[in-house]
Amino acid sequence: MPSIEGLAIRKIIDSRGNPTVEVDVQAGGSKGRAAAPSGASTGTHEAVAFPASGIDDAIRTFRKEVVPAIRGREVADQAGVDRRLRELDGTPNFARIGGNVALATSLAVVRTAAHLARQPLYRYLGGAARTRLPFPFGNVIGGGRHAVGGTTIQEYMVVAQGPSVQANVLANARAHRLVLEALAAKLPGEPIGRGDEGAWIAKLDDEAALRVLAEACRDVAREAGFPVRPALDLAASEFWQGGKYGYRDRSLTPSQQIEYLERLVREYDLFSLEDPLEQEDFAGFASLTEAVGDRCHVIGDDLFATNVGRLQRGIDARSANAILIKPNQIGTLSETRAAVDLANKAGYATVVSHRSGETTDDTIAHLAVAFGSLGIKAGAVGGERTAKLNELIRIEEELRGGA
Ligand code: PGA
Ligand code: ZN
Repeated sequence: MPSIEGLAIRKIIDSRGNPTVEVDVQAGGSKGRAAAPSGASTGTHEAVAFPASGIDDAIRTFRKEVVPAIRGREVADQAGVDRRLRELDGTPNFARIGGNVALATSLAVVRTAAHLARQPLYRYLGGAARTRLPFPFGNVIGGGRHAVGGTTIQEYMVVAQGPSVQANVLANARAHRLVLEALAAKLPGEPIGRGDEGAWIAKLDDEAALRVLAEACRDVAREAGFPVRPALDLAASEFWQGGKYGYRDRSLTPSQQIEYLERLVREYDLFSLEDPLEQEDFAGFASLTEAVGDRCHVIGDDLFATNVGRLQRGIDARSANAILIKPNQIGTLSETRAAVDLANKAGYATVVSHRSGETTDDTIAHLAVAFGSLGIKAGAVGGERTAKLNELIRIEEELRGGA
């Protein structure tokens, strides 16, 4: 395969209006492009999006150091490109060149290689034989860092499990609509806004919001004729303060938090619980997984930060049974894949995820298929979210021979 002839970077905006980067790579007459997103509830152990000196400095470093280091390399040598990005950075968390610069470069390289191979990305990465596609996790009610004035829990999601991605995406969007109607009836005269990921902001306590979601799930399941279950991302590190989990109306100790969540799993038949405890509590995660892991996916996001070292620690401690995969938490495709491979080996499910600040880049739809993931967290509605969901629908059509 040809070598990389050129790389270019530009500053674009994400869905929050914050600047981020997009990279173009050229090789053998083909061009690949990728952009990187940013989180709001970022974990302590993830790669930093941009160096402390800022995005403009990161762009200068890209032009001065990354371009000469990557130009001339074989475009198909993804491992070599990713290793070079790591060496060039020289820090454990991409603090010098920026995780977003590294990720956009890494993904633009693989997109170029896929174009040259005349294959869609999911196929180039080995996903052609998939018969079961990921379940979309749709964010319906949002709080925490994603929504001022909302619930303490960050994400109330819906997971439809119908016969196709298309049916699931539509069912999730239907639940999103029904929840708006229920909130409008419950809070007459209150304006109902949307958070960073397009989820409704509910001025309700956390369990009342879950009740609204669970009811919408039941209604959609009845209409659609397949299971539709609620799921939560607590993003618990965000409200962990002074040894307790601080909800609006009360504070819970770690063991009270575990008991509370056990009850929620039982009463609301939760499909998954993401970051139910703060990001250092491997033992608390293990207690919760022991209690509910047979019927609920316990997902580590900030806990693992898509990092093989932290995932191995969690596997050894039996902390969870699933991992959230966010490529920009680690910074390169190769390291993202390494986390997926380790998860698969340990019997952990994987859920590929967007960030709260997203672009219309649809690469994660391809990655979720290529990785054979259980799920994809890409929101329920909103342009930068539907970019991924609609791409997944197209991939499904192609895999099923409809295109
Ligand atoms: P973030 O949140 O993208 O704001 O970090 C998403 C999540 O916690 O899953
Ligand atoms: Zn999360």
